[in-house]
Amino acid sequence: MLRIGVIGITGRMGQAVLDVASSARDIAVVAGFVRPGRDTATLRAALPPSLLLTDALPDLMRLVDVAIDFSHPDLTLAAARAAASAGVPLVSGTTGLAEAHQAALLDAAQHVPIVHAANFSLGIAVLLRILPELRRLFVDWDIEIIERHHRGKRDAPSGTALALLRALDAAQAEPALTPVYGRGPGEAPRRPGEVGLHAVRAGGEVGRHSVLLASDDEGLEFTHWAQNRRAYARGALEAARRIRNRPPGLYTFSDLLFA
Ligand SMILES: NC(=O)c1ccc[n+]([C@@H]2O[C@H](COP(=O)([O-])OP(=O)(O)OC[C@H]3O[C@@H](n4cnc5c(N)ncnc54)[C@H](OP(=O)(O)O)[C@@H]3O)[C@@H](O)[C@H]2O)c1
Repeated sequence: MLRIGVIGITGRMGQAVLDVASSARDIAVVAGFVRPGRDTATLRAALPPSLLLTDALPDLMRLVDVAIDFSHPDLTLAAARAAASAGVPLVSGTTGLAEAHQAALLDAAQHVPIVHAANFSLGIAVLLRILPELRRLFVDWDIEIIERHHRGKRDAPSGTALALLRALDAAQAEPALTPVYGRGPGEAPRRPGEVGLHAVRAGGEVGRHSVLLASDDEGLEFTHWAQNRRAYARGALEAARRIRNRPPGLYTFSDLLFA
């Protein structure tokens, strides 16, 4: 049985992880991290009595084989340090990481295996894998990335949109790619190598990303959408299974799925 601790258990993704894990035979969520002082009475009532809710990361780490984090960058940083000192592998899906947060993940990855992905869905993992090839094949075509998320999303553009851009860039084709965040108002004719990133925030949209490639005469558009958060939770749990026995290092979800 793989024992999981969920950091951000009160959140939308934390709840989705609990939901998917409840029907997985090989996984048990045994602990959850909650914000200090948070009222957990309602949450507690819906959880197995044996599940530890704690505001102390070391207490969570002591109980688990793998920690899964869907929270906030500052908490991700603390979780990475706690995982490293407890020797616990970490799966992190938190987005909006600044350089300091990424550096903390890298530091911790010297001690334990860590996978960070802005998107744990299988569809995006496959899209990330094929984008460098598409960029090489359609080197003269214009590329735009359009993402849509629910009104509560904090970071923009999404971590997934940035990962899509990095995957296109990984082709190292000419002209080099330059991101442009939104367009206008005013005159802004398209320059060679520009990639427009457009963030739409509305309603309850779980997450939709399109990569549009177009020439003067034709176009190609790849769109991925999540029907619900279980798509991400399922991937995070699969990452937990696959990272458990890996050596220390910072992994991508693709590394775990395809390498
Ligand atoms: N990689 C993926 O596949 C994927 C998919 C979806 C979302 N995400 C990312 O996952 C993260 C969480 O998304 P969500 O929709 O679940 O957000 P959410 O509903 O706002 O949940 C955030 C969770 O983190 C906790 N939290 C935030 N700041 C904290 C702090 N300073 N100390 C302690 N706890 C803190 C919240 O606790 P409270 O309830 O007490 O506020 C809550 O449990 C975001 O970065 C989002 O972009 C990633």
